[in-house]
Amino acid sequence: MKESEVTDDFESDFANLARLAASGSVEDVRLYLAKLVRKYRTIRPAFSAKLDQSLKSSQTRSSGPSVMRRGPAPADSQPLLPQDQDTRQSLVRVFDDRESLAAPILPEALSKQIDDIVREHQQRAKLEAHGIRPTRSAILVGPPGVGKTLSARYVAARIDKPLWVLDLTTVMSSLLGKTANNLRLVFESAKQGQAVLLLDEVDSIAKRRSDDSDVGELKRLVTAILQEVDNWPDSGLLLAATNHPELIDPALWRRFDAILQFDVSDRDAVALAIRRFLGRDAEQFDPWIGVMASSLMGQSLSDVERSILTMRRNALIHQAEPLRLAVDLALRHAGTMDKVARRDLAISLAREGAMSHNQISELTGVARDTLRKYAGPSPLKGRGHKKD
Ligand SMILES: Nc1ncnc2c1ncn2[C@@H]1O[C@H](COP(=O)(O)OP(=O)(O)O)[C@@H](O)[C@H]1O
Ligand SMILES: [Mg+2]
Repeated sequence: MKESEVTDDFESDFANLARLAASGSVEDVRLYLAKLVRKYRTIRPAFSAKLDQSLKSSQTRSSGPSVMRRGPAPADSQPLLPQDQDTRQSLVRVFDDRESLAAPILPEALSKQIDDIVREHQQRAKLEAHGIRPTRSAILVGPPGVGKTLSARYVAARIDKPLWVLDLTTVMSSLLGKTANNLRLVFESAKQGQAVLLLDEVDSIAKRRSDDSDVGELKRLVTAILQEVDNWPDSGLLLAATNHPELIDPALWRRFDAILQFDVSDRDAVALAIRRFLGRDAEQFDPWIGVMASSLMGQSLSDVERSILTMRRNALIHQAEPLRLAVDLALRHAGTMDKVARRDLAISLAREGAMSHNQISELTGVARDTLRKYAGPSPLKGRGHKKD
């Protein structure tokens, strides 16, 4: 290591240590000291020994878990997570799905777009040999609960990195003056920690603009974000998510290399998702998956997941019949369904032969003629009385 590099390192280490000390967390300071002791052991043995001594003397006074006895674990393997300097709350949520994470259920074109970004990063060396940069940033657009965060987790896992989610609504709700600082801190740490960074609800910056007194601060904040996006390294991946693309500053919008458009799923995708969310109960509900898909169509997969999990709980707690539960679930959503979806649901119920056309018609408001037309004659005269 060159002398000038050591000096640079000293400066940034000192600054980090000062920041941790100012935040008042003894444990964090000690973790960091332990890291420095190891770092400087070979290049500055005397200095390292001195740090080690302060570390050991601080330890006897503390009743908390020992940093030394914990071994080399966190400080070495994980970067320190960025914290708000006053509240000491972590500024990011961390997802590490490298062990396993099923691919999100998405339309083919979107899946392919995501897959391409993953491959570009997996084969970055190949691209760079030809002087081409991989897609460095992408903005995920779509309503809540359609799999934006999930997809970001998936991408990060596939390129073997953790995902850090910075929720801009939360950051913005704190004092604006320190938001820019916090933002820089997060970007810096994410770069060092080799994490994929997701700026969630990135439109929340724009929303604050309505309040006149904040305008100056907000401009600075937008500038700070723009600079950070510009300085983001090619080796990293920066993601942003929004359900209000129209609110995003055009200068920021332009800076994203790719736009990933998410929408609510079609019926087939909902059916696939239901099967996945049913897990080990899939078999017992199998005949009713189509009916449930018809009724849940148009909802986000996040809402679909909630409905299915509620139903599975009920199946266990109340020992209820799968048919009963599936029909209940379907009908609970019949009111909010549009005409076409309601007709689909009614026809599916009729085809399953679960109820008489009369009952189906009463529950869904779909005419018996329509049912007969698409599903043949009613198989039942009344509930549970099958015709021969
Ligand atoms: N496309 C999808 N494929 C599979 N599961 C999904 C999908 N969309 C949503 N979910 C389920 O809903 C949960 C919440 O979705 P999330 O990714 O947080 O939505 P968003 O970020 O778009 O608001 C996910 O963790 C997952 O369980
Ligand atoms: Mg999300």
